[in-house]
Amino acid sequence: MIPSITPGRGGEPVRKPRSRRVPERLWSPESGELAPWDTWRGLDAAQQPTYANDEHLLEVTAQLRRQPPLVFAGEVDDLRTWMGAAARGEAFVLMGGDCAETFAEATADHVRLKIQTLLQMAVVLTYGASLPVVKVGRIAGQYAKPRSSDMETRDGVTLPSYRGDAVNSFEFTPEAREPDPQRLLSLYNHAASTLNLIRAFTKGGYADLRQVHRWNQGFMSNPAYARYESLAEDIHRAIKFMGAAGVDFETLRDVDLFSSHEALLLEYESAMTRIDSRTGEPYNTSAHFLWAGERTREEEGAHIELLSRVRNPIGVKLGPSTTRDQMLSLIDRLNPDGEEGRLSFITRMGADRIREVLVPLLEAAREDGRPVTWMTDPMHGNTITSSTGYKTRRFETVMDEVRGFFEAHESAGTVPGGLHVELTGDDVTEVIGGSEHIDDESLHDRYETLVDPRLNHQQSLEMAFQVAQYLAKVSSSEE
Ligand code: PEP
Ligand code: CO
Repeated sequence: MIPSITPGRGGEPVRKPRSRRVPERLWSPESGELAPWDTWRGLDAAQQPTYANDEHLLEVTAQLRRQPPLVFAGEVDDLRTWMGAAARGEAFVLMGGDCAETFAEATADHVRLKIQTLLQMAVVLTYGASLPVVKVGRIAGQYAKPRSSDMETRDGVTLPSYRGDAVNSFEFTPEAREPDPQRLLSLYNHAASTLNLIRAFTKGGYADLRQVHRWNQGFMSNPAYARYESLAEDIHRAIKFMGAAGVDFETLRDVDLFSSHEALLLEYESAMTRIDSRTGEPYNTSAHFLWAGERTREEEGAHIELLSRVRNPIGVKLGPSTTRDQMLSLIDRLNPDGEEGRLSFITRMGADRIREVLVPLLEAAREDGRPVTWMTDPMHGNTITSSTGYKTRRFETVMDEVRGFFEAHESAGTVPGGLHVELTGDDVTEVIGGSEHIDDESLHDRYETLVDPRLNHQQSLEMAFQVAQYLAKVSSSEE
């Protein structure tokens, strides 16, 4: 394996951390030929697990290549069209789910509550924006995590970091932390069963608008949320009006809920890519939407190369250090022809930086002219450690970043296209604040995440009510 070398200050070579080239003998699948999307092989691949047994990995990826697709090219095309509408201000995207899904929590109850939360938020946002809300779960595939350190030390013992259930196990023993290729097959199977549930819940009447509205009324009966009462009352009246006007609610029984995850594990994403029989083009069939994270968005790196080869709508996370030139070269790499809905930038700048760093990027993209769907991830730039030692976020700071996102778009004359959040439908205590006043002390009660802190069910709805108010302002200024 050749470590990548870049010149450092003073001319001495510096080893780039957590980056490796894929060994040449892994290049060829059974046929001995490279697939058209396998041009990433040989490029710098950040954040990849190091497997002890490459033969085992080859067997697993050969099996994955024979599995049926998890999503279909026609659905992927529909989502791309919706993402294009969001870039023009004709729809708003809600993307949310766990930081890291786990195999243990891919159960009917957890999935149902997460879907329920997304649908409840979507109803509120639809009303606020007076626009269709495009619903995308961070779900059915979000099982691998980039880590800031390859190793973790506890009480003097150092082991490989947990990289998500798709790679190794959270338990702190040498056996559990050893990356296991077999987990890629479990990833596929858990994603398939989760998608099956999603399809059943969203196409079987469970997502009926009247039903979702009833759930929201339950939320509103909590006095902590009294300040959203008038918005909730407006939504209630609108739904009653629709009923009185003879809207056929039966036609509103089904919703589309798309899937997404970070395209991190290159062997898995590559093995799940298929040629679409209608168009002859490659689609990543592991999810409808895929994104590259802040740590794997290197323009010349393997992740961007792989994503540049598939037809799916693609996102890239942009942190506060993103330069104008980096952003423009990502547009060159991922959306050279300016196709609508193809490329989203998901900004995660931090509440204290967003107003200063986002506006110049928005202006540069606007001048460039190729369309971008702009989404805010108000979670990852605002992670702190509580006085009690938990990795957490403050609800108020998260909301401040969302506000900063809307302000930046207003000042650049661009379109705020969506919200990307880490949430769960469960009643956890991982994020501080909100109307339920979770504080440093109560984090301990139900802190369940294995990686980043998530908004709980109530905090998610509270966010939706606040964002609905910002969206209502945007739509009234356009009238
Ligand atoms: C994430 O979305 O969980 C994540 C790791 O984000 P980022 O790449 O923005 O740090
Ligand atoms: Co996260």
